[in-house]
Amino acid sequence: MQQSKIAGIGMYVPTNVVTNKDLTEYIETSDEWIQERTGIKERRYAHRTQETTTTMGIKAAEIAIQRAGITAQDVDFIVFATLCPDYYFPGCGVILQREMKMKEIGALDIRNQCSGFVYALSVADQFIKTGMYKNILVVASEKHSFGLDFSTRGRNVSVIFGDGAGAVVLQPTQNKGILSTHLHSDGNSAEILAMYNPGTHANHWVKDPVAEFDNAPRGEMFMSTAMVDKAQNFPYMDGPAVFKKAIIKMPEAIMEALDKNGLAISDIDMLIPHQANLRIAQFVQQKLQLTDDKVFNNIDKYGNTTAASIPIALCEAWEAGKIKKGNLVCLAAFGSGFTWGSALLEWEL
Ligand code: UT7
Repeated sequence: MQQSKIAGIGMYVPTNVVTNKDLTEYIETSDEWIQERTGIKERRYAHRTQETTTTMGIKAAEIAIQRAGITAQDVDFIVFATLCPDYYFPGCGVILQREMKMKEIGALDIRNQCSGFVYALSVADQFIKTGMYKNILVVASEKHSFGLDFSTRGRNVSVIFGDGAGAVVLQPTQNKGILSTHLHSDGNSAEILAMYNPGTHANHWVKDPVAEFDNAPRGEMFMSTAMVDKAQNFPYMDGPAVFKKAIIKMPEAIMEALDKNGLAISDIDMLIPHQANLRIAQFVQQKLQLTDDKVFNNIDKYGNTTAASIPIALCEAWEAGKIKKGNLVCLAAFGSGFTWGSALLEWEL
């Protein structure tokens, strides 16, 4: 079996910086509340009309492709992770394929929210391992700012999320590269962090008193004005429930990756946790007894960029010289689904 490596990495964040203080102009919140509960100081919001999830992904991809020493035409498969695609369908992967003038290669969209990048990386890794592809572009991008509830009802979610994108190119390697990836889910908590509408569930899983499906006109079942009036087109999150599960499952996934490879916590040179909340990352760090120099956080600058958070953090850590060739890097994510996972890699850039 052929091992795969990250051969190039890139990131893009919009130029528009939105501080906690800026948010207080239109959300009932405070800088103190946000910083104390999440560690976030500011985040980026994409340009309303000139930037989309895909265009941000393309900017990150261009850098990753260039750093991998290839061109867009050399890419032989695309994996695109996002929870806020440009269209409900088709996915962002095909728009990226079109805009980057790539060959008529396969394009797969991944819908695993905060775990999206780890899932995407794992899928790409398997394709390299089997020898099916040689240059896989993995992109994770989110334009959250377009779909958040800025009323008091949605403030626990809206202050957390930010926009941005990260991308990597995976290629075969003779070295260790990606040692292993580990993916998990627990659908019992699917409704704890979710955007219910538009959708086709028709109250099958959760009783929604707003939506009346039995007698609704056929054309108003997928998305109705009643749903919009009740802000059901925005994400819902039971924050404390997510928090409690994340601090258990992220360390578990990291230990699983280490055990699988016969390694110990002390072997980790850098842990890149999904940037969900600084307190979650600190819990994980404490539980594993990792020193500050072995955990990279940048949530203070970008907020939670969901699927994009790990590749953005990985890219920044590497650009800052905090990850060097030969280092053992661990990625760990947890989010909606619930889904979670980890990846362990020997850094080759
Ligand atoms: O990326 C993976 C998915 N997401 C996560 O990992 C998030 C995990 N969870 C969290 O990060 C935290 O649960 C939050 C930061 C979302 C919330 O922090 P919390 O300490 O769990 O707060 P809470 O939801 O229990 O709310 C506490 C209080 C409530 O007021 P009362 O009922 O105590 O009067 C909320 O209404 O804080 C209030 N609140 C706010 N106040 C000011 C909720 N959001 C805000 C806000 N500003 N933005």
